[in-house]
Amino acid sequence: MAIYGNGRIANELHHLFANKKPEQVTIYDLLEFDQMHYDGIAALDVAVEKCQIKEHQHIVDIGSGYGGPSRYLAWKYNVNVTAIELQEEHSNQANELTKYVQLGSKVRHLNADISALDTREYNEKFHVAISLLVFLHIPNRDQLLKNVSSILKLSIGKLFIEDWYCKYSFLPEEVKCLSEKMLCPYLPTKDEYIEQLISAGFGDIEFIDMTESWTTICSKRSEDFYLNREIEIQKHGQSVYEDLLSFYQGVDKLFKNGHLGGARIVATKLR
Ligand SMILES: C[S@@+](CC[C@H](N)C(=O)[O-])C[C@H]1O[C@@H](n2cnc3c(N)ncnc32)[C@H](O)[C@@H]1O
Repeated sequence: MAIYGNGRIANELHHLFANKKPEQVTIYDLLEFDQMHYDGIAALDVAVEKCQIKEHQHIVDIGSGYGGPSRYLAWKYNVNVTAIELQEEHSNQANELTKYVQLGSKVRHLNADISALDTREYNEKFHVAISLLVFLHIPNRDQLLKNVSSILKLSIGKLFIEDWYCKYSFLPEEVKCLSEKMLCPYLPTKDEYIEQLISAGFGDIEFIDMTESWTTICSKRSEDFYLNREIEIQKHGQSVYEDLLSFYQGVDKLFKNGHLGGARIVATKLR
């Protein structure tokens, strides 16, 4: 997944270690760059409230990226997190970051594809699954939701998703941008999304439209990244900077066009 695998974390750590020793690194230092979804830790606090997450529960973070959400939940809410990440490089970097802040006993990093996971080891293990901006990369929703469902506790297991969906029909150039640039080959409509969750055994579904707020966030992210270009180029180099800028501008345009939707979805595993 080239859009995420561009050495960003190594550059951020290099920048951080210019001013700090590794043993001085705090969770706040990492929060500056380790969240890849919108609205950072505010979104995680919402997940905790919506899913009624409690101390010592077992949480699975699906598509955990650099591990930022997993670490924050473990640190702030004292839960145990299994962080499943497809890309080996990300998973290893996430593990390294977790060790810097001494959260290794609370956050376990697992390099795996959620759709191909041997779920027997995790059968009904988790109280809550969170997945932030990941499902948009996974077109086979049947297999995905089957696996997610099987690792959640029956009747009480909660699923918290942040994802894109198809709000209005996409233009041909948007379909191309989504599949080629965003690695997003398929997006369901709201009705299709809910139908897929019900078919997979989920109920009590709350579908919260986040489009307006995420349009604003993505517009600001793109503008800020451009305004801070000198610092960002110094940190990442010209080529990575341009890749990131192009990605941020692409997302900004998709939201502004009005066809792409953003959603926060909460559901319970009922069967
Ligand atoms: C936008 S990033 C979000 C990362 C993290 N959830 C966060 O909010 O910081 C999407 C992540 O999902 C991962 N991913 C995509 N498909 C996956 C799959 N089938 N199984 C596990 N992880 C996956 C990608 O490698 C990437 O790290």
